[in-house]
Amino acid sequence: MTAGEGAVSIRTWPYPRVVAHRGGGALAPENTLAGMREAHARRIGGVEFDVMLAADGVPILMHDTRLGRTVPGVGDVGAFASADLARMDAGAWFDPRFQGEPVPRLEDIVQWLRRHGVWMNIEIKPMPGHDVDTGQVAGQMVQDLYAGVADPAGLPLFSSFSAKALGAAREAAPGIPRGLLVEGVPPDWRTRLEALDCVSLHCRHDLLDAGLARDIKAAGYGLMCYTVNDPERARELFSWGVDALCTDRYDLIGADFR
Ligand code: G3P
Ligand code: MG
Repeated sequence: MTAGEGAVSIRTWPYPRVVAHRGGGALAPENTLAGMREAHARRIGGVEFDVMLAADGVPILMHDTRLGRTVPGVGDVGAFASADLARMDAGAWFDPRFQGEPVPRLEDIVQWLRRHGVWMNIEIKPMPGHDVDTGQVAGQMVQDLYAGVADPAGLPLFSSFSAKALGAAREAAPGIPRGLLVEGVPPDWRTRLEALDCVSLHCRHDLLDAGLARDIKAAGYGLMCYTVNDPERARELFSWGVDALCTDRYDLIGADFR
């Protein structure tokens, strides 16, 4: 595989097979450094997390486009500058022991995960109407941070439900591979992967079947499923040829799951 240069084959998945969903999964607050620490402490080799742009154009980790669920407050996340978000509490909703956990910046999380040897699937999760700028900014940042890294296993993998965001990431970061996120696998999956030079397809595990998995793997693409929390189901998916699982329950599906 040559990342981002039109070659698509991931016949041998070069990344970890068990990936912590939103970093923290069910064990620590999502999209926070505390979550990444928890996954790393449990020897999970890879994390998935969500990225959007703050009002000052700085990419930050966040799943919801509005404050309220994980961070107290009202309004669009994209209306707040990254420094303001960094002063907000992204941890107390999960458990009082995480009180004061800030909304992190993408750059800080990438640096921390690299230092600790944790692989990352960076989901580009734009605020409505910000597909292109989010893909462009996140792409440029990651491309710069990984300048000179040639080994595909040492690179992060971008993913997004937004084709526009992935297209912008391709422009800004031709060297960083991309995966297309879908819920169910669409009939035109192959065309859509080719159009964005994607290396992988990421789908809901409960909307996949063995035949589809076989076809996707036979076409040379990586195949990742979310969100898989049951070890029996994980075993079945791996038996279909699925390459990796995004899970909230990495305490049940350990790093060395077979
Ligand atoms: O990448 C898999 C998963 O993260 C996609 O769903 O909503 O948790 O970002 P969501
Ligand atoms: Mg996600």
